[in-house]
Amino acid sequence: MRRVIDPSTWEPPEPPPSRGDGLIRGTLYGSRLYEQPEHAALASEVRVFCRPGPILNLEIGVDRGYRILGHARRWTKQRWLGVELRRTVREAAEHAPSNCMLLRGDIRAVLAAGLIGAHRLKRVDILFPTPSNNPGHLLLTPAVVALLAGSLEADGVLLFATDVPGMARLAARLLARWPRVEEPPSGPVLSRREKVCARDGLTVWRWACRPPPN
Ligand SMILES: C[S@@+](CC[C@H](N)C(=O)[O-])C[C@H]1O[C@@H](n2cnc3c(N)ncnc32)[C@H](O)[C@@H]1O
Repeated sequence: MRRVIDPSTWEPPEPPPSRGDGLIRGTLYGSRLYEQPEHAALASEVRVFCRPGPILNLEIGVDRGYRILGHARRWTKQRWLGVELRRTVREAAEHAPSNCMLLRGDIRAVLAAGLIGAHRLKRVDILFPTPSNNPGHLLLTPAVVALLAGSLEADGVLLFATDVPGMARLAARLLARWPRVEEPPSGPVLSRREKVCARDGLTVWRWACRPPPN
């Protein structure tokens, strides 16, 4: 039986040890997912969307996708890629303008497969990642942080937010070498959790930072 998580006391489990073979534990087939014939067409669509060109931004865990659609409609000359593990994103994907691609998938597999390309992203938003006691389900791990550093442009920005104290401590540890920068503009549509936090006056920890110098 799955234990219910109390966000106020949650502490991250030890991250899964690196496999040393380029695969990420917890993702189906790891980075090889997109080598499977049934996923190859989608992989090539993502590669085409992310090829060098106008500013490219990524939001991870877009839920229903309304926030990123708001960004794509507000900044029409930029490209917006949204990745969400759950089916919730499918409906929004049907209404996405041409500068926005919404993908149902595991960002860890997308990054590890190199579908986005090195140093291609101007901005990555991760808002309120889910705490999990299963190390294989954790999004914020040293392996993912390293993949994000390799996917962001040198002056790109990672925007990270959480209202879970243990997640904030984990982020503080993993992002310690990332220099803080000014937060990029967002809106007008808030994410679901942003709305809840604003409504209930919850404490939110936020980071805007750029990849560490090598
Ligand atoms: C707590 S919700 C927050 C949703 C939204 N960002 C917000 O602020 O309301 C976390 C979201 O991240 C998604 N997620 C978790 N791990 C993911 C992964 N590895 N790749 C893509 N999405 C992921 C979950 O399915 C969920 O929709």
